[in-house]
Amino acid sequence: MSTLEVRHLVKDFRVRDGLRRGTLRAVDDVSFTLAAGRTVAVVGESGSGKSTVARMIAQLETPTAGEILLDGEPIGRRGRALARYRNQVQMVFQDPFASLNPYHPVSYHLERPLRIHGVARGKEVTPAVHRLLRSVELDPPEVFAAKRPHEMSGGQRQRIAIARALAPGARFLVADEPVSMLDVSIRLGVLSLLARLQREENLGVLYITHDLATARHFSDEIVVMLRGDVVEQGPSDQVILDPQHDYTKTLLAAAPDPSRHGRLRDEVRAELAAQAS
Ligand SMILES: Nc1ncnc2c1ncn2[C@@H]1O[C@H](COP(=O)(O)OP(=O)(O)OP(=O)(O)O)[C@@H](O)[C@H]1O
Ligand SMILES: [Mg+2]
Repeated sequence: MSTLEVRHLVKDFRVRDGLRRGTLRAVDDVSFTLAAGRTVAVVGESGSGKSTVARMIAQLETPTAGEILLDGEPIGRRGRALARYRNQVQMVFQDPFASLNPYHPVSYHLERPLRIHGVARGKEVTPAVHRLLRSVELDPPEVFAAKRPHEMSGGQRQRIAIARALAPGARFLVADEPVSMLDVSIRLGVLSLLARLQREENLGVLYITHDLATARHFSDEIVVMLRGDVVEQGPSDQVILDPQHDYTKTLLAAAPDPSRHGRLRDEVRAELAAQAS
């Protein structure tokens, strides 16, 4: 089975405090394994190091220490192993508008990664773009392919960002607060799309969020971070129903009332059942 694993990841940033220079340990010894077809949620308050973990996995930051392994192999710094890693591990950011160039239509945003990563050429490109659009439930694809980012809703733009991440043949998606900038009414639709892709395409999803309720319902495992440290990690139900660390208990107490979780779970189940039938 395919896995993406981080072992003892550490990230120090150099910071200036007046005239003094120092280092800030943003991530301190984080380890977890994400398997194909599974979702791991990373939760924690602002500044706990969640995005820094995501950015190291996406190769946007170099770890100070620790390792990242794809299928048990360290990813290395160059060569075919790194190229393979870059195709297979893709990122979805919080703000879909910032990550899409407003001057280009959707077709451009999807054709580019298909060509660059050698997934489709010539006459294959347009059908491949249409397949991607259908896979993120933007139908009819011809209509969406011609749109520019500002002609779409936030949820539709985030679906394009997900399609673009899938284009190189991604097997793992790192989604850093993928719905927190979206209107509450459309969040569930985008999360359900990620859940469907995870199930049907056997994608591994790293879901970074402040929101324990969605973390529970959309992930198999939860990693709780506080000031760079992992304070608790385990199967989602176990972390939520039997939290061991005081910080997890505080997060849970601050989460919306549990009856809402029940309703969310029912809605999600109904939606997934409708998709499966
Ligand atoms: N490039 C950088 N240079 C210096 N410090 C940084 C840098 N990037 C992040 N940090 C610091 O590292 C810590 C962790 O930041 P990070 O963005 O990973 O947190 P987060 O959990 O994603 O927070 P949020 O929930 O607000 O997105 C913070 O104290 C932040 O200020
Ligand atoms: Mg962040």
